[in-house]
Amino acid sequence: MNMGDNMSKILKIGIIGTGSISEEHIKSYIKNPNVELYALCDLNFDRVNEMAKKYDVKNVYTDMNEMLKLNEIDAVSVCTWNSAHAPCAIAALNAGKHVLCEKPMSVSEKDAIMMKEAADKAGKLLMIGFVRRYGNDCTILKEFIDSNQFGEIYYAKATYLRRAGNPGGWFGEKARSGGGPLIDLGVHVIDLTRYLVGNPKPVSVFGVTFQKLLGRDNIKARPRYRAASATNHDICNVEDFATALIRFDNGFVLSVETSFSLNMKNDIGKIELFGTKGGAKLEPTLEMYTEMNDYLADIQLDAETALNFEGIFYNEISHFVECINNNETCKSPAEDGVTIMKILDAIYQSAQTGHEVIL
Ligand SMILES: NC(=O)c1ccc[n+]([C@@H]2O[C@H](COP(=O)([O-])OP(=O)(O)OC[C@H]3O[C@@H](n4cnc5c(N)ncnc54)[C@H](O)[C@@H]3O)[C@@H](O)[C@H]2O)c1
Repeated sequence: MNMGDNMSKILKIGIIGTGSISEEHIKSYIKNPNVELYALCDLNFDRVNEMAKKYDVKNVYTDMNEMLKLNEIDAVSVCTWNSAHAPCAIAALNAGKHVLCEKPMSVSEKDAIMMKEAADKAGKLLMIGFVRRYGNDCTILKEFIDSNQFGEIYYAKATYLRRAGNPGGWFGEKARSGGGPLIDLGVHVIDLTRYLVGNPKPVSVFGVTFQKLLGRDNIKARPRYRAASATNHDICNVEDFATALIRFDNGFVLSVETSFSLNMKNDIGKIELFGTKGGAKLEPTLEMYTEMNDYLADIQLDAETALNFEGIFYNEISHFVECINNNETCKSPAEDGVTIMKILDAIYQSAQTGHEVIL
């Protein structure tokens, strides 16, 4: 990657898509001393102007191709709905910008491969916003895994279940989202678990999806994450629950469960790892399970192990800036985004055919 020309300078940043999550990017860029937030772009004129006013950004666009003509922009965050990730990221890379693209990388492995090829050709960084990799909880658990406290980790469960948590807007519309909770929420926990255990190569997938409860827009008085454009009558043609078993080349198996809508009491988000010497559960705090002196022992650290949501976007954005300015090795590279898209494609394919998909 040719990044020498950007050594230690103040990076000028553009944002494509100024909806709900872009505010986390914007606030983190503004806090970063090595960055100038330079331009904002959104198809929605009112939204982008409202954000430009709120964050005092002078250069405002509704056409990303116009914004990308600005030579002074070094890098962009792509925070659009999922189907626009590939066209926006590829256009930005072709215009010579480094790109931080929100998760999921794209709506298909095919698009993800094209994005990676564009980055390789341009010699620019394409980082994927796998923000959970930047959490304090992930860092601590990874230290324990890397110092072999769990022995061989052979099984894990990744759970991200919401009782009534479809974010509305485009999230329920397959053409713009690529799918439901699997591609929106499952992507976080599949990636986090695979990252924690050392990024093994997936070899087969069996998946099932259900579309039973839809978006549950009728549910009253329940606060939830919402797309900036959400209404109470959005399309919902995606799955509302997905489950899958993913096998990896080293024998490791991951079981995933994820929902936007499910008849259960409380929302659940957790990762459970099971190894030969011990096990671990991440969230709400880190717990570890092992044997000591022929007793079963449960371990809780005298440390802050609950996920600090405030810090994770700042950590992610700081890392993006460090990668560009100081040539650091990217912790969430395009390559991993492609692998995760391969897994997601295979889960949807398996759910459709009723058969295991060999990768
Ligand atoms: N990392 C996380 O934890 C996290 C959390 C929420 C959302 N996200 C991801 O962030 C992305 C955006 O989600 P959101 O909740 O902010 O959605 P949103 O609907 O609030 O915002 C998306 C914005 O993108 C704009 N847009 C779409 N195509 C565009 C284009 N070609 N050019 C310019 N603007 C365009 C839309 O007009 C809209 O304002 C999604 O990919 C989502 O998966 C990540």
